[in-house]
Amino acid sequence: MSELPRIYCACDVASLDDALTLSAKLDGLPIGIKLGLEFFMAQGARGVGAVRDKRPNTSIFLDLKFHDIPNTVAAALRTLSDIGVDYTNLHASGGLEMMERALEAVNAADNPAKLLAVTVLTALDAERLDAVGQRTPVQDQVLRLAKLTQQAGLAGVVCSAHEITALRAICGDDFTLMTPGIRPAGSANNDQKRVMTPHGALKSGATHLVIGRPITKAADPRQAAIDILESL
Ligand code: C5P
Repeated sequence: MSELPRIYCACDVASLDDALTLSAKLDGLPIGIKLGLEFFMAQGARGVGAVRDKRPNTSIFLDLKFHDIPNTVAAALRTLSDIGVDYTNLHASGGLEMMERALEAVNAADNPAKLLAVTVLTALDAERLDAVGQRTPVQDQVLRLAKLTQQAGLAGVVCSAHEITALRAICGDDFTLMTPGIRPAGSANNDQKRVMTPHGALKSGATHLVIGRPITKAADPRQAAIDILESL
């Protein structure tokens, strides 16, 4: 794929049929598919390969958020080397060595995926971070882990839309910011708390947007996706 799409649609399903149905609805649009743990646990690498084979022009972000000792994460990523996804990710809190070893493993593939890091899960607020012994303000921890990610040579981070401006200032332009929590004007927030519109997030400096339910739960997912593309 020459240019990666600005939008990845979160395909939060366990069944291969459902993933193929959604990707068929988006066929021909400049929108990638994000497959996560739910799909991977049910369908494994073979399921990811099946989506790729059926939709060879659709970019895939495999969102598995690895977090283990460096050797284990590197070995796990090596098993994915031929899977043909454009992005995959891990937790930056696994540390510098883990990220460096993971990057080496990914880069050994013929067509390496770009590796992103999750900094602080958006489900964790200051109180919950404190409960696990992390007393730093959330934003400071996000920036600290983003800098560590950059030091390890990874492509970028997954971040909340409200972190984009601070991350761009610290990490520069050549750093991927993959941003969930996106809601087109007028659509339901669902369980997302701090949302931003697709246009707003790109204007703030996001590289890619992850959008799930505003597309997948729409009466006409293809039309919802087209409306979002036209709003950019
Ligand atoms: O349906 P919705 O647009 O809220 O989906 C967002 C997707 O991004 C889901 O797959 C969710 O797990 C993921 N995500 C998120 N917030 C994060 C990281 C990932 O919503 N911080």
